[in-house]
Parts: sequence; C-alpha cells; structure tokens
Amino acid sequence: MSLNALSNQTLHHATQPVLDAMLDALVEHGWFVWPNALPDALCLALLDEVAQLEAQGELQRAGIGRGGEHHINQTIRRDHIKWLDQTSPAQQDYLAYMHELQTTLNRALYLGLNQYESHFALYNSGDFYKKHLDSFRGRANRMVTTVLYLNPDWQANWGGELVIYNEDSTQTLATVTPQMGTLVLFMSEQIPHEVLPTQQPRTSVAGWFRCQSTGL
Ligand code: OGA
Ligand code: MN
Repeated sequence: MSLNALSNQTLHHATQPVLDAMLDALVEHGWFVWPNALPDALCLALLDEVAQLEAQGELQRAGIGRGGEHHINQTIRRDHIKWLDQTSPAQQDYLAYMHELQTTLNRALYLGLNQYESHFALYNSGDFYKKHLDSFRGRANRMVTTVLYLNPDWQANWGGELVIYNEDSTQTLATVTPQMGTLVLFMSEQIPHEVLPTQQPRTSVAGWFRCQSTGL
C-alpha cells in the first residue's frame, strides 16, 4: 500500500490493512510515516498546551545523553522540551492513543514494550537536531520512537524536515514535513535521523516505547 493511501486514516479507526502496512514497514524497513494519524482537534489542543507552557517559561533547553552523561550541547541540539506528565485532558488523550499503539506493536512484533516516555518539543527559528540515534544497542532500552507533528499548514520553504537515513547513514530514506497529524514511527536503535534547521517555530511530541526499566 502506498503512503498516500493512508492519508484519510486515523489510529482510532485504522483498518487492519493500515495497521498491517505500518507493522510490515517497521519490520522490513524500520520506519513508517503515517499522515493524519491523530485527529486535528487533539493536535491543536496539544499545540495550544505547548504555547501556554512556553508563555509560562516551562520549556527547558533539551540535553543529550542519559543519566549521568546528560548535558546541554547547542551545536548538536537546540530544541526546548517538557516531559508529558498526564496533567491535561489533551495529554491523557494522546497517551491513550499511544497505549493503543503499544498494544498493537506488542501483539504483532513481540517487542515486550511496557513503558512510554514522551516530551513536547519546540524548535524555534534557527533550531535543529543533528544526525543521531535515539538508542544504542545494549545500552538503553528505547525500542520504538514516535514523533507527532503539531504544525498546521507547514510550508515547503520553512525547512524543519525530519530526515531519515539508512542504518549506516549512506542513504536518505525519507524527508518528512512536520505537518500537523503526521506520526512518524521508527526503530530507535536502527534509524539515524536529524531535524534540519527550521525557519518557523516547529512543535512536536517525541516519544519512546521501552521494554523495561533501566533505573535511570
Ligand atoms: C528527537 C528527535 C525528531 C523530530 O527528539 O530525538 O529526533 O522530528 N526528534 O522532532
Ligand atoms: Mn531523535
């Protein structure tokens, strides 16, 4: 099935062929781009929440590295984030969808996913995130990455695309516009990716399904 054929499907009424296409793509290629995966009303509520968090000074500079290695490096990453804490109806709604997705992934792929962590991210004009992996084999347990975009009417000349590379970074596999409702899924240990510099504020929810607690 082509990606275009998915454009009117949403997760809450996804048909089995759509879910199968997503699962097949993750197994065969390690990534999947799902336009209009979540309802616009939910995306707009999440976008509004990020605007309020920014106005209240609640967004923090994002860091790199986990646990004791965590630090800020603005030559690699420049977004501002806030971890979701289930305190709003929009967050609860979003997390319910992600729980449904976790169940679907576990049933088909036997990944044993049992946790989901996610943060809002705001990339202001000029911000980027250089090419990286979200998880390193044997070191962490981030298994599947999700990124949901919250930007209505993103224009082609605004930059801010997500670039997805093959495992050894020799080829570009996809360049994804951060358009509202698009959900990107990829295997966290397998897929190098980067956020190109944006020319407009770019808002998203990034999340990771994990398979056990690290205690970090
Ligand atoms: C991340 C990330 C991609 C995006 O937060 O680790 O790669 O498109 N985000 O926002
Ligand atoms: Mn990433």
